[in-house]
Amino acid sequence: MKLCMIGTGYVGLVSGVCFAELGNDVICVDKDVSKINKLKKSIIPIYEPGLEELIKKNYKAGRLKFSNNLPVSIDKSNIIFICVGTPTKKNKYEADLSQVYAAAKEISKCIKSFKIIINKSTVPVMTGDKVEQIILKKIKKKLFSVVSNPEFLREGEAIRDFIYPDRIVIGTSNKKSNKILKNLYSPLISKGARYINVSRRAAELIKYASNAFLATKITFINELANLCEKLNINVEDVSIGVGSDKRIGGRFLRAGPAYGGSCFPKDTRALVDTAKKSKTSLSVINTVINSNDKRSGLLLNRINYILKNKIKNKNITFLGVTFKANTDDMRESASLKMIPYLNKKGAKIKYYDPTGKKTEFDKFKNVQFKNNIKDACEMSDLIIIHTEWNEFKLIDLKKIVKKRNFIIYDMRNIYSTEKMEKQKIKYFGIGK
Ligand code: UDX
Repeated sequence: MKLCMIGTGYVGLVSGVCFAELGNDVICVDKDVSKINKLKKSIIPIYEPGLEELIKKNYKAGRLKFSNNLPVSIDKSNIIFICVGTPTKKNKYEADLSQVYAAAKEISKCIKSFKIIINKSTVPVMTGDKVEQIILKKIKKKLFSVVSNPEFLREGEAIRDFIYPDRIVIGTSNKKSNKILKNLYSPLISKGARYINVSRRAAELIKYASNAFLATKITFINELANLCEKLNINVEDVSIGVGSDKRIGGRFLRAGPAYGGSCFPKDTRALVDTAKKSKTSLSVINTVINSNDKRSGLLLNRINYILKNKIKNKNITFLGVTFKANTDDMRESASLKMIPYLNKKGAKIKYYDPTGKKTEFDKFKNVQFKNNIKDACEMSDLIIIHTEWNEFKLIDLKKIVKKRNFIIYDMRNIYSTEKMEKQKIKYFGIGK
């Protein structure tokens, strides 16, 4: 089929190249000329394992194209995916849908034959209705259909999550569109993905509800971890015991720092905002948001305790600063709260991240990027494992750290307490 992806961020680029990989002709469109020119030279703006090779392969095969010209791209396509950003409005809970509405308006100027317009960006319930109204101002109803098809892609695993999804959710009551989309996704359905056709609003809510539930699961285990620290219980044992119940499941039950990223914080807030506008209270999700917002403060109190309230002039190392491993994304990363706080308390901070230096810390004079683990750790009093990169799991700390009595604060529980005790390393984990 002939597809047009509007927006070349995580969602548009990954979905576009994967659809091309499945044999479709895909045009990825973006207003940002420099971004499109770089993509034509296979210079990829995001860190996503496996993406560059897939883009090169499909671009070379002629199935994947990049363009700034939306009218021509729409004209050449049967299915138009809106994959633009829907960030949270400044200091609010509400999602900013200006890019979605702008795309809908642009699309309404270019429709000459039947098109399926798909909201793939995460959009609040009833956004599909509003997109439909915008297009109806210019185009007759029989010439288009607006569908919700939310993505469930995790950063760092996005290609695998696209090719092997648990489910494909299609929100439409239009039989023709449903048939076409079932055909588009047939290669994934034949590999075992479940195809779920629901109303457009249900599909929009399924996306938010899924992310909100995952955020709830993580917050649940994070709060249990706080209790485990008081009762000298290992939260990992509790995760295994609880997660073995098939009704609960063991995934997303790993205690850690506050959850971050471009989705959970944004989507939980947007869902609460939707409920508020519908005069309904989602008290559980509200509690999750508040608990997660407080988590970095809790972990900073623990650092105070670990350093016996002597943070000033202490050498503290962060191994990893992004919101999780296998991504370069700093959005809502817990380090964005923790490092400035420790810097303000007079700590001398070094950090190493496999995805490189972060501009977010440039303004702090006592926060230094080191481009290898040894330089980041050798003079440390406290080494904080902030993200669970594989390369952090086998470090011989005794060998590289020169300071005696250095301490490890393992916020991802990548090390075992027993091993640390054997090596006589002072070790603190999360929930143990
Ligand atoms: C999430 C959803 O998983 C994905 O389905 C949706 O499409 C987009 O949002 P993403 O934000 O990329 O994906 O990352 P994810 O792997 O879900 O992690 C989100 C946050 O939860 C990270 O901060 C991560 O460190 C944290 N997390 C995840 C935990 O603390 N514990 C866990 O067990 C899992």
